[in-house]
Amino acid sequence: MSDRGVDPLILNAWLSARSIARGLPQPVAEYGGYRVDTYSDAEVRRWVFPQMGPGLRELSHSLNEPRHFLKLCGPVDELRSALTDEWMLHAPSYFMQASGKQTQRPLAEGYAIEIGHNGSVVEVRVKSGAGELAASGYATETQDVFIYDRIVTAPEHRRKGLGNAVMAALRGTKQCQGSPELLVATEDGRVLYATLGWRMISPYSPHRLPWRKVRFQQLSHRGRMADKGRKRRVRAG
Ligand SMILES: CC(C)(COP(=O)(O)OP(=O)(O)OC[C@H]1O[C@@H](n2cnc3c(N)ncnc32)[C@H](O)[C@@H]1OP(=O)(O)O)[C@@H](O)C(=O)NCCC(=O)NCCS
Repeated sequence: MSDRGVDPLILNAWLSARSIARGLPQPVAEYGGYRVDTYSDAEVRRWVFPQMGPGLRELSHSLNEPRHFLKLCGPVDELRSALTDEWMLHAPSYFMQASGKQTQRPLAEGYAIEIGHNGSVVEVRVKSGAGELAASGYATETQDVFIYDRIVTAPEHRRKGLGNAVMAALRGTKQCQGSPELLVATEDGRVLYATLGWRMISPYSPHRLPWRKVRFQQLSHRGRMADKGRKRRVRAG
């Protein structure tokens, strides 16, 4: 594992494939990192940095709106040292790469796997005997990488090998055997992927600006406007 970030080409390749998997715009190189315009309710855009650099600090000081995320392939403390106090840590994650052969378990009894394709995006769904969605995940292959995305097992179906089955089914669709397999894992995911022989190539530290800063700014702006109105009324009176 490296605490000094990741190869920018690998990061760009992963981000590019992730954008395909999620139907997002392609990453744009900016401030020494990559910007993705996500435009969801929870997030306007994010910048992902392969390592710490002056651009990250400059950008962080220029941002003051919520739903903007900064993510660093590096330790939380390193990112925090570049940010003002308003920035809040958002669940730390792990940039990981598959290494070698993965152990595949037989699918637990009573479950069935469906594999669907939408362009270069593969979706795996595991259904229970009752027909409910028990686990799912996505993968995308580009000429550079094969990435896994949104691997989830419903709480009541966990620890039955379904996460393992989703990963194996996605991996079975990989066409270019030589390209690296990548993902960014949550804490839960990291444990699963470690059992499959994955290794962490870097911590992945996300920060965001909280709503309260903006609300404060908006309120203080409104407050200033109200004050001006009051003063005008006082002067007019
Ligand atoms: C991560 C997640 C997909 C794992 O799904 P799962 O179906 O429970 O995983 P599996 O049953 O295939 O686990 C295989 C092995 O991984 C390890 N493992 C998985 N989850 C674990 C956990 N929470 N704690 C400890 N070990 C765990 C165990 O060794 C397990 O084998 P065992 O149950 O025989 O001990 C699931 O916990 C989840 O959906 N979490 C919330 C969403 C999320 O964070 N997804 C990952 C995104 S990167």
